[in-house]
Amino acid sequence: MKLTIAVLPGDGIGPEVTNQAVKALKAIASEFNHNFKFTNADVGAIAIDKHNDPLPEKTLDLCKSTDAILFGSIGHPKYDNDPSAKVRPEQGLLKLRKGLGLFANIRPVKAYQTLIDKSPLKRHIIEGTDISIYRELTGGIYFGEKQLSEDGNMASDLCVYSREEIERITHLAFKAAQSRKSKVTLVDKANVLESSRLWRKVVTEIAEQYNDVTLDFLFVDNAAMQMILNPKQFDVILTENMFGDIISDEASVIGGSIGLLASASVGKKYAMFEPIHGSFPQATGKGIANPIASILSAAMLLEHFELHAEAELIKQAVDKSLKLNIATPDINTKYDNVTTGKVGEFIEDYINNPKDSNMNFTNIHLGQSTII
Ligand code: IPM
Ligand code: MG
Repeated sequence: MKLTIAVLPGDGIGPEVTNQAVKALKAIASEFNHNFKFTNADVGAIAIDKHNDPLPEKTLDLCKSTDAILFGSIGHPKYDNDPSAKVRPEQGLLKLRKGLGLFANIRPVKAYQTLIDKSPLKRHIIEGTDISIYRELTGGIYFGEKQLSEDGNMASDLCVYSREEIERITHLAFKAAQSRKSKVTLVDKANVLESSRLWRKVVTEIAEQYNDVTLDFLFVDNAAMQMILNPKQFDVILTENMFGDIISDEASVIGGSIGLLASASVGKKYAMFEPIHGSFPQATGKGIANPIASILSAAMLLEHFELHAEAELIKQAVDKSLKLNIATPDINTKYDNVTTGKVGEFIEDYINNPKDSNMNFTNIHLGQSTII
């Protein structure tokens, strides 16, 4: 298959982790005889520094002319504590999501067998967890009108949803549930918010078209608690933009590290693949950032194009790296010298030699090098 891929590494650890995902995709292309063409572009703080714009026109145009987008992360501390900053790196990501119509953000959460004991949550609570979060991505409070009074003492952010915005992601969530455990949980705050009551009404109506799927509801405060108390009760979680942002960071604790959570953002025409984590500025350039979320986002990209065997091979490589502790310090209690690049090399090497007999616990083959 021929695919053109826009690579938007962004800020902080974005470039380091995205590099590893590109390595994995290149290895897949060579193993399966695909033709993947990568083109880089700037977004976020780096784009502000270079072009005075967090999402330069050129970047958006590139994204519109490619088959898929691989996104790193954005954000820089110099903007975080400056409430008066008019231009912010995050605007680049938000404009990209809106500009490409990426209305559904799919965030899979699972407990990896090998990492269960590394989670701060107890084994019996998280073992077997397998959740798919469907977060609405181009509406709600993120995109409603924002106001700051002239004297700077009053501010507001409007949360707006239309029926159509709710309908389109709801259909995707129900279809996903049909090939999973047939359950959708709508997370909202319908006891307080009018927009949540519209979500309940529309989702309840649509549920009638999916008789084989069970629908239940949770208020977001309760959902946050249930996520920690009993995450196995969830199959597909459907929710609006901001609740999805918060719930998915919380859910990442189940997997053992936020550095493991991948996501796909899809619309009618375009698709972007991005780790759920941020730019982790303190780690930039230190080689300690976990590239797995980005690598698994690359696997979601392959799945999007129905390249299932290819995606499966990446996931196998990731499983193997976790099993062998070829992992960055956030999840590695055994070795303290495994860098972002080493994890990427191992995964690349596994893809090239999946049956390599050197893949064992005492002597790990890594292309030209051997560690341990
Ligand atoms: C995410 C991030 C973004 C969001 C930020 C960087 C704007 O937290 O993708 O979850 O809030 O959507
Ligand atoms: Mg977030």
